[in-house]
Amino acid sequence: MPATLPILGQAPAVEEDPLDLMDEIERLKKEKDATILAHFYVDGDIQDVADFTGDSLKLARDATKVTTSTIVFSGVHFMAETAKMLSPTKRVLLPDMLAGCSLADSCQPEELAKFQQKLRAEGRDFETVAYINTSAAVKSLVDWIVTSGNAREIIDRVPAGKEILFVPDQHLGRYLSEVSGRKMILWPGACMVHEMFSIQDMLRAKRNNPGSRIIAHPECPVNILEHADFIGGTEAMRKHVASIAEPQTFLVATEANMIHPLQKIAPQHNYVPIPGLMESSGETCACNRCPHMARNTLQKVRDCLRDGRPEIEWNPCFDKARAVVEKSLLK
Ligand code: 13P
Ligand code: SF4
Repeated sequence: MPATLPILGQAPAVEEDPLDLMDEIERLKKEKDATILAHFYVDGDIQDVADFTGDSLKLARDATKVTTSTIVFSGVHFMAETAKMLSPTKRVLLPDMLAGCSLADSCQPEELAKFQQKLRAEGRDFETVAYINTSAAVKSLVDWIVTSGNAREIIDRVPAGKEILFVPDQHLGRYLSEVSGRKMILWPGACMVHEMFSIQDMLRAKRNNPGSRIIAHPECPVNILEHADFIGGTEAMRKHVASIAEPQTFLVATEANMIHPLQKIAPQHNYVPIPGLMESSGETCACNRCPHMARNTLQKVRDCLRDGRPEIEWNPCFDKARAVVEKSLLK
């Protein structure tokens, strides 16, 4: 019996050797004048064939340094869109156009515009700060963009007398409000992966690994963050483990593929992924994997390099969004 059942009307996926695919990708990169950017949440094999890996901030900046005519962005849609905005003359490819983001989906531009209108009608004096995990249409409606890597710095750039409307991640917003002391109006969005962590399993893992330290992404809810020894975005996590020479056990509260770059930069440590919890049954599961990031496979990276699609097309709202992204991430 095959390992996965074929979907009716679709040809079953043919398993290809990952090493052959990686060789083919290396060859195609040269032939097609392409550079691969990969987020830390995609499969380790893809990170290994990438020219640049990083968090959302570093990859947005890396996109501006690419010298080839094509960028293959192995990540999710809002990341490839941001790369296109910052490098308009490049062809930007995303291996699977359906690689979205639950957080970005939780804030639709029409709803945001309506809410901003309501606040203005009430006479509220505010600036809107958006997490980079938003569509270009949302970015075109806001004053600032933050990533987990520059959020503190940007919040400090919002004039002191202004209120802050923070969209769409309520957990990151709550955390930033706490560390910056700024009052915020929080949009009720959340990341499906970081909301799923099982607090019971995390505490059990902590008991089973005496002396271990919890490192957590600020997209996690407060009940996870209050147990964390270190809170930071993916690049900050990498720097943190690398700064500790003495071997430790780290319990990792973020997407499970993050363990790949952590192991690479600090192999002296032991990394334990925190499992997720299935709301329907209460059972723990592998939901600490982002299903959108998981749409990136070696096959799809090879196919998009070979075929030159799917491509992120320029959209009129990119002009306004680009100005906000540039002032927030590049200046
Ligand atoms: P960073 O890698 O910027 O910390 O973002 C994490 C994330 O959830 C990306 O979707
Ligand atoms: Fe979006 Fe969460 Fe996936 Fe990141 S991990 S792409 S925030 S759904």
